[in-house]
Amino acid sequence: MNILVTGGAGFIGSHTVVALSEAGFTPIIVDNFSNSEISVLTGLEKILGKKVRCHTIDCNDAAALREVMLSEKIDGVIHFAAFKAVGESMGAPLAYYRNNLGSLVTLLEVMLETSVNHLIFSSSCTVYGETETLPVTEATAVKPAASVYGNTKRVGEEILYDVAKAHPLKIIALRYFNPIGAHPSGLIGELPLGIPSNLVPFVTQTAIGLRESLTVFGNDYPTKDGTCVRDYIHVMDLADAHVAALQHLLVTEKPSLYDVFNVGTGAGNSVLELIQTFEDVSGSTLRYQIGARRPGDVTAIWGDVHKANNVLGWKARRTLREGLADAWRWQQQLGARNK
Ligand code: UD1
Repeated sequence: MNILVTGGAGFIGSHTVVALSEAGFTPIIVDNFSNSEISVLTGLEKILGKKVRCHTIDCNDAAALREVMLSEKIDGVIHFAAFKAVGESMGAPLAYYRNNLGSLVTLLEVMLETSVNHLIFSSSCTVYGETETLPVTEATAVKPAASVYGNTKRVGEEILYDVAKAHPLKIIALRYFNPIGAHPSGLIGELPLGIPSNLVPFVTQTAIGLRESLTVFGNDYPTKDGTCVRDYIHVMDLADAHVAALQHLLVTEKPSLYDVFNVGTGAGNSVLELIQTFEDVSGSTLRYQIGARRPGDVTAIWGDVHKANNVLGWKARRTLREGLADAWRWQQQLGARNK
């Protein structure tokens, strides 16, 4: 089956292309390369030992999407293409709404026109906001979003819910926790533009000497060691969850469906625990200092993943150590390239 992977050259998208291909699907990438590099394709081709089909297209371009959908005989779509920087989204709300929601509406219209009716959507645990009940389940209330980026995920889910009620579409939204790591080959991984805002790329860039030192954003949170707690999931486990979700959609007999699943490990780690594990795995000492809290950060979040386990038969298999070892291997391979 031919699966369109929008944003397939990005971090999670590229790893999902590998997982899809290994599961016997044919992934067809669509990417506008606004936040990814063409070199990702070389890494993918080395891993898979074959050419990867790719179209340089913006998902707001309905005509181009329609053309690919028909010429590649697409059976299903995994939609990653989106902006993802929380801070940046606050200063550029319209760019975020256009890129993340405008393109979603365009994609759905094109899917209906071309009778492609299976869709997996990238959502985020950010839809839960600051929550007292941990771990969060899919039944935990969704809160008003604290950022424009978060709002594009919350509203994106609502759009999909409405559309699946009105049309014969089968849709799953996956609520990702914090993806880390890289393919164990070190051939593909995360490629942040400029200074990373996410923790793990900042850690590996500091260790390789690209950054002076890491600032831990606050150690006065009500957690075990005062630093924030997150559910760090290996990107290859996350990639496998997309394959499991797609297989679930393909066998469902219902004419339309909308469902959401948490995709995490089911456990949380603090920032300091992550740093200690990284030091252990890499055999290096990380330069870091404690700084002020970062506005908008939630204290702690990790997911209950029983639903994905029971319904999709999926579960995270890789550890935090493996995630950090793979991220470190990838960074060593990149070296000081981002300097
Ligand atoms: C955020 C979003 C998430 C989004 C993800 C990817 C929220 C609540 N979460 O996750 O939806 O998918 O970004 O863009 O909006 N930290 C430091 N120092 C650093 C960087 C981070 O201490 O230099 C800490 C943060 O305070 C946080 C943890 O590391 O506790 C993880 O941060 P980060 O990797 O940015 O992810 P989130 O903010 O959890």
